[in-house]
Amino acid sequence: MKIGVIGAGVVGQTVGEAFAAKGHEVVLGTRAVTEEELAKPRSMAVPLKDWATRTSIPVATFREAARHGEILVNATAGGIALDALALAGKDAIGSKVIIDIANPIDFTPGAIDPSRGLMASVPALTNSTSVGEEIQRAYPEARVVKALNTANIAVGVAPKSLGGDIDTFIAGDDATAKALVTDLLKAFGWSTVIDLGDITGARGTEQFIVLWFRLMVTLGTPTFGIKVVK
Ligand SMILES: NC(=O)c1ccc[n+]([C@@H]2O[C@H](COP(=O)([O-])OP(=O)(O)OC[C@H]3O[C@@H](n4cnc5c(N)ncnc54)[C@H](OP(=O)(O)O)[C@@H]3O)[C@@H](O)[C@H]2O)c1
Repeated sequence: MKIGVIGAGVVGQTVGEAFAAKGHEVVLGTRAVTEEELAKPRSMAVPLKDWATRTSIPVATFREAARHGEILVNATAGGIALDALALAGKDAIGSKVIIDIANPIDFTPGAIDPSRGLMASVPALTNSTSVGEEIQRAYPEARVVKALNTANIAVGVAPKSLGGDIDTFIAGDDATAKALVTDLLKAFGWSTVIDLGDITGARGTEQFIVLWFRLMVTLGTPTFGIKVVK
């Protein structure tokens, strides 16, 4: 399928490459596509020029990526996700499936304390709402599916790499969209995809980031997974 990835950080790059490896036609979206911008170092990710050369995946504007995709991926920080999607444009988003990977991490100074494993969420995107819900509200025709936001993205695209059988979660209002995303996740190697129901299920998975961060500091690694046992 044609997949447009909105966001070119470590998550967009990793997911984009993983989808392409499964045979999908990916375009990776970023804000600035000048030669100079593409060559710039990126925190946690490689310069887009190097990435595009290595993967042979086109890098384009958010709008071009959104136009290209039959399925879209939101791979931006929760606090600015609506800004990024606005650049993609309502007409390009239409009624497409949006796989929303964002977490509402609060990046204001002092909100994150790695020495204590403390992370906070953006207050306006928590408690009685979530990034997933806000995207669905802003784009009512689109079919938002929250997914892949409860594990490090390297685990997200290769869950079997941990050597165990771990679980992942989806939430969204559209059953057909969730079935499609479940198939995409299974192709990455997830055997158990737990459907949390409508898009309000995103509240719980997005708030897992606070425990995820403490676990990462406690365990000394970002590569671990969740197994739900009844
Ligand atoms: N790291 C993980 O393993 C992991 C796992 C699961 C979920 N997540 C979540 O996945 C999401 C993406 O993470 P990331 O680290 O890849 O993201 P990131 O590097 O922070 O951001 C990626 C994109 O956001 C765009 N952006 C930044 N500020 C913007 C603004 N004001 N307006 C419009 N666009 C803007 C950037 O545009 P430019 O390209 O133009 O700079 C970039 O393409 C986050 O919500 C994160 O919490 C991360």
